[in-house]
Amino acid sequence: MKNFLKKIWKWIDDRSGISESILPVITHPVPPRAKWSYVFGSATLFCFLLQVITGVALSLLYQPSSKEAYQSLQFITNQAKFGNVLRGIHYFGASAMIILVGLHMMRTYITASYKYPREMNWISGVFLLIFTIFMGFTGQLLRWDSNGVWSSVVAAQQLGRVPFVGEYLARLLLGGNTIGGQTLSRFYSYHVFIVPAFIFLFVAFHLYLVIRNGISEPPKAGRMVDPKTYRSWYQNLLKRKGVPFWPDAAWRDIIVSAFIIIAIIALAVLFGAPALTTPPDPSMVQTSPNPDWYMIPFFALFALMPHKIESIAMLLGPLLTIILLFSIPFISHKGERSPLKRPWAMFGVICVFVFVISLLVIGLQASWSPNFNTKPLPLTDIKSSNPDSTIVKGVHLFYAKGCQYCHTINHYGGKAGPNLTTVGNRLSIEELKVRIVNGGKNMPSFGGILSKEDLNNIVSFLHSQN
Ligand code: HEC
Repeated sequence: MKNFLKKIWKWIDDRSGISESILPVITHPVPPRAKWSYVFGSATLFCFLLQVITGVALSLLYQPSSKEAYQSLQFITNQAKFGNVLRGIHYFGASAMIILVGLHMMRTYITASYKYPREMNWISGVFLLIFTIFMGFTGQLLRWDSNGVWSSVVAAQQLGRVPFVGEYLARLLLGGNTIGGQTLSRFYSYHVFIVPAFIFLFVAFHLYLVIRNGISEPPKAGRMVDPKTYRSWYQNLLKRKGVPFWPDAAWRDIIVSAFIIIAIIALAVLFGAPALTTPPDPSMVQTSPNPDWYMIPFFALFALMPHKIESIAMLLGPLLTIILLFSIPFISHKGERSPLKRPWAMFGVICVFVFVISLLVIGLQASWSPNFNTKPLPLTDIKSSNPDSTIVKGVHLFYAKGCQYCHTINHYGGKAGPNLTTVGNRLSIEELKVRIVNGGKNMPSFGGILSKEDLNNIVSFLHSQN
């Protein structure tokens, strides 16, 4: 029996060349003293494989049509065996993948692993970052509940405001002028065929480059990268001190990846997938979207930008960011790799990190988008104990004209604009009129919309709130 198995293996190995081609790769020498911080890349890869497996499993039951998508997800969540856990793994796996891609990128930046000869490793990595974010964005819509759909509507509106090409891009993204069945098929195609195909391709290329150029040695202050001598120096280092990748360096990757995957599954079992909100209703623009956490920094960024510079910034911001990311290895491809000797580079990465985290925190706290679900303010809740008819009319208009979508009075209303509970203390009648007629940053001007009488009623109501 043993001999028979050996024969089979010999046959396979002879015809395929496994031990000639694969074995040298997994036992190829790598620099000694690998660090724990070098594990994020492989952990990302394992998360991606987990996403592929759970994604394929989900696709067995998911129906990508606007009529059935919501029901099929409901079926997966509530009836299918382990369906909720499966969705949970796919959700937490996506979150983990985004975090790990970020950490991997930060590590390679901090250790300047993008310098000669690994520029292309970095560039293919930037592509993989973009693909990963796009997967998160498209996956959110496939949920086809009001949350997922309206988050995409808002994103498409933002895209549509980009000068010159915005409308075209938005139409390309959505497969039409509005979100509908064709958008769902299109996003399904992006999420399940097109982008994963690119990810597989780029991951293969990325890994090939890791083998070709070798894993970067942990940097040391004062040891410069010189493109003329680096390769021979590196080969020499491997010859003298190299250790086989498997098992000397790879055990760390295996432990960390296993831990992360167990953590993802545990989270999925404990919490399940995020609950589906109501089915989307194309006739109703009345929800405030609540995008997945990894999309929130983008939403917060656009919400915080002053409207005047916004449309230019919306074109230039992402464009410059992507150009900058791609050009990092060309801006500096030799010299110091140690973070201790690159204070400005470290300062930059800390700034970016703080910026993104602040956007996330701001975005999670603020409801910057109007709250269309607000209930009318009851008359018992206004400040004037004995409201006359102008004030009562003002209260109704404040709701009917949509002011309350953005402004809160006594806990009723949205938070996109300032709280007006005590605005009577702050602003005079004249000032109130000016503010409402002219509008302001993120406040529409109501000059042409309100009649003089309406305006007077609203103002006398607001002025009584002190
Ligand atoms: C789309 C959201 C939105 C809507 C709708 C809206 N506002 Fe505002 N409003 C804002 C924002 C944002 C500001 C802050 C403007 C600024 O800082 O320049 C503001 C400012 C104000 C102010 C000045 C507050 C202060 O403390 O300085 C008043 C008064 C006001 N709005 C009244 C109204 C009234 C009345 C309506 C309805 C007719 C209305 N708003 C509709 C978003 C909105």
